[in-house]
Amino acid sequence: MDTPGFFKVRINTLIPGKPTTFDLHLRINNQMITYLRAGDKIEAEKLRLLMARDSGNHFLVKEEDRRHYKGYVHNQMMSGDLDVREKALVLRESSMTLVEELFENPDVNKALDQSRPIITQFVEFMEAEPSAMAHLISLSGHDFYTYNHSLDVSIYSLGLAESLSFTKADLEEMGVAALFHDIGKRQVNIDILCKKGPLNDAEWAQMQKHPQFGLMILKENPTVTEGIKAACFEHHESWAGNGYPQQLVADEIHPFARIVAITDTYDAMTTQRSYNVPMTPHEAVTMMKEKLAGRYDPEMLNAMYSVLFKMKAAA
Ligand SMILES: [Fe+2]
Ligand SMILES: [Fe+2]
Repeated sequence: MDTPGFFKVRINTLIPGKPTTFDLHLRINNQMITYLRAGDKIEAEKLRLLMARDSGNHFLVKEEDRRHYKGYVHNQMMSGDLDVREKALVLRESSMTLVEELFENPDVNKALDQSRPIITQFVEFMEAEPSAMAHLISLSGHDFYTYNHSLDVSIYSLGLAESLSFTKADLEEMGVAALFHDIGKRQVNIDILCKKGPLNDAEWAQMQKHPQFGLMILKENPTVTEGIKAACFEHHESWAGNGYPQQLVADEIHPFARIVAITDTYDAMTTQRSYNVPMTPHEAVTMMKEKLAGRYDPEMLNAMYSVLFKMKAAA
């Protein structure tokens, strides 16, 4: 449920004892009350109680305070008060509401603009903290598969691109591209998206159109780069040439799309969904190398081992 003029925030992005820089509103039974005024603080005990009940839909901040909320999150990330796990939590939870907006908000231009500074924060956090990626991933929830999936694919893609020595500018674009790779699923029927069990031919045909749907959405925004469009349109292409929708071969496929092809499959294999048993990280990469060889850029797939190494080192 959206409330015009407000955006949702998760209560666990607040730090106990730290004065807020924005008014925080609470919606109960369709009534809006001002829960905290800018400058008020929340105590640890109260915060714990609220966290247990927060579904992600109750706390809102006025659109005009978005800048202040972002600044508050940014300050937490920069402060020495939080450890790496707490920072990862604040960053992940504050981005989650954005990812929800990406998939619900008809204004893709706005969503794109808002995603850039978030990705910059991810890149900087990962640069500063070697264990950042592992912590960000370990917080992935099992609800809202599509949202978690987009964020996780973005985090893994940053990790993989970093192993491949991408520049900071390319990393930032890669992160945004990965976040939007499945944006076309907005146009796929929700019953198909949520269906448990195999899809029939007609359903599968619609599902396979999501790269085209996504490209159409992204084309409406003049600031979207070729790399972002390619990650969306080409992430189901296959190195050997038998992917879709264009059957591109090898390096005809944009490097961003080759990365997403890997991280997308890897995330699906290692994530618990209702109908599968998740594989361990190592099993997933080995399976991709042995059973699915030919689908992925071999050099990039090899670099996935250093991503696994980073995850392990942080565990
Ligand atoms: Fe996809
Ligand atoms: Fe995907």
